[in-house]
Amino acid sequence: MTAQLIDGVKLSQQIRASVAQRAAALTERGVTPGLAVLLVGDSPASQVYVRNKVKACQDAGLHSVLEKYDATLTEAELLARVEALNLDPSIHGILVQLPLPAHIDANKVIEAISPLKDVDGFHIGSAGALMVGRIGQESGGFIPCTPYGCMKMLESIGVDPRGKHAVVIGRSNIVGKPMAMLLLQASATVTICHSGTPDLALFTRQADIIVAAVGKQNVLTADMVKPGAVVIDVGMNRNAEGKLCGDVDFAGVSEVAGWITPVPGGVGPMTITMLLVNTMEAAEREANATP
Ligand code: GUN
Repeated sequence: MTAQLIDGVKLSQQIRASVAQRAAALTERGVTPGLAVLLVGDSPASQVYVRNKVKACQDAGLHSVLEKYDATLTEAELLARVEALNLDPSIHGILVQLPLPAHIDANKVIEAISPLKDVDGFHIGSAGALMVGRIGQESGGFIPCTPYGCMKMLESIGVDPRGKHAVVIGRSNIVGKPMAMLLLQASATVTICHSGTPDLALFTRQADIIVAAVGKQNVLTADMVKPGAVVIDVGMNRNAEGKLCGDVDFAGVSEVAGWITPVPGGVGPMTITMLLVNTMEAAEREANATP
């Protein structure tokens, strides 16, 4: 292996320690940052994700509530819960775990979350604010946690995207699109590839930074990577043996890349960490806006 590892667990610990300090300082001022996590249905994967999110909050001294609902919960009932949480002063962040059951319109639910509490960064207001470079106090809005975590990983290894060619594989609203926007804001030249890209390798071979966010094993192999490139693997897949793996052929690509994130222990912990950062930010914005 020639590539150096980008350790998401270690970086997470550092960032979570600084969140814990900020949480303690705000609690001193009488405001404990609070996150509400809403889970509808009993998907085993979602149960694990939300449990990890709630535990991470508690470990950092944030207040967090987990609301679990049966898969039969109606859209109107869920919207009513979101609206109540929008008005709840002890809650600064609201996260509705996706996917939602098919009878609930996820977009409608996401749009019902106050942009001031949209710590997932999925609200159309957050997406718009990111697009025009105006995430912040007055307009509200938050950076989606996974791409935010990827940017922190680049920063942690001293890689400035300015002037680099970044190739994002995947165009989801949750990862691919916001990732491309953040890299663009950081002055990278950005290419977005996706399932309709006929010759993926043509682009990835020119890339200084590759972010793979497809949800399919072995999308990126060693022959597709320029020596020394930074490779960030957002994928979370199960291989034939049931083992957790990313989108990148780790064994092969780590012989060529300069830096690489492992799965597990790479982007995954960073996503939760940036949720804590966003919740902290939401609480600080609220506390600083209230005299
Ligand atoms: N489902 C998979 N990833 C996420 C995420 O980051 N946030 C939410 N709310 N649901 C998800």
